[in-house]
Amino acid sequence: MATEVSVSILSADFGKIAEALQLCERSGVDRIHVDVMDGHFVPNITIGPVVAAAACRHTRLPVVAHLMIEHPWDYLDAFMEAGVSAIAVHAECYGARRSSCRAYGQYPKEVDTLDAGQLTADLRRIRAQGRQACVAINPGTPVACLKDILGEMDAVLVMSVQPGFSGQKFIPEALPKIEWLRGAGFKGDIGVDGGVNAETAPGVVRAGANVLITASYFFTNNDPTAVVAGLKRLF
Ligand code: DX5
Ligand code: ZN
Repeated sequence: MATEVSVSILSADFGKIAEALQLCERSGVDRIHVDVMDGHFVPNITIGPVVAAAACRHTRLPVVAHLMIEHPWDYLDAFMEAGVSAIAVHAECYGARRSSCRAYGQYPKEVDTLDAGQLTADLRRIRAQGRQACVAINPGTPVACLKDILGEMDAVLVMSVQPGFSGQKFIPEALPKIEWLRGAGFKGDIGVDGGVNAETAPGVVRAGANVLITASYFFTNNDPTAVVAGLKRLF
């Protein structure tokens, strides 16, 4: 599987999103990653469907909405109408939360098991509109909770930082999760999100991931074309 690079606009200048998207296109980026945060599932607030729609209008690249929000099922239609090509919902929205993170303001949200029926229904809603259905899992959530829905997902997004902010340090416990997914026969895309850079990316690709998501490594580098080429060279 060829390695693809997906750039999160979270580290872009939000006053110049169209320019950031053009920079991504010029630099050889494969996909645009939009980090949607609600201040409840994660402690930060970012953007919603209105800005996602603006991003879709200003790029020819596929746009992925990474929904770090409570009740993602209430917003699937809005993001699909915005024009995104893929939606990632968090597994932690589909199961009983651990006692340490049940209340408002307790992070990170984590689950041990899922309501596979409810999650499958949402993934099918996404697929029915011709979009990629993706499940994101937080660092503390065991990947084996996805075992019954491997055939329902187009992609898995393995979080390698606690969701909420860009510019954090890579959590290496993401690597065995990728290996588990490939070992279980998952053939879809595996994206890794958080702390991806020249040091961490080789191990991620070796473990079996094929989509590298980056915000700060791309936007803080003065040679973004070289950043993308370097990441895509890994296989
Ligand atoms: C974290 C977001 C990531 C983040 C990545 O909550 O989901 O997509 O923007 O940022 P970097 O690449 O800076 O770790
Ligand atoms: Zn993300």
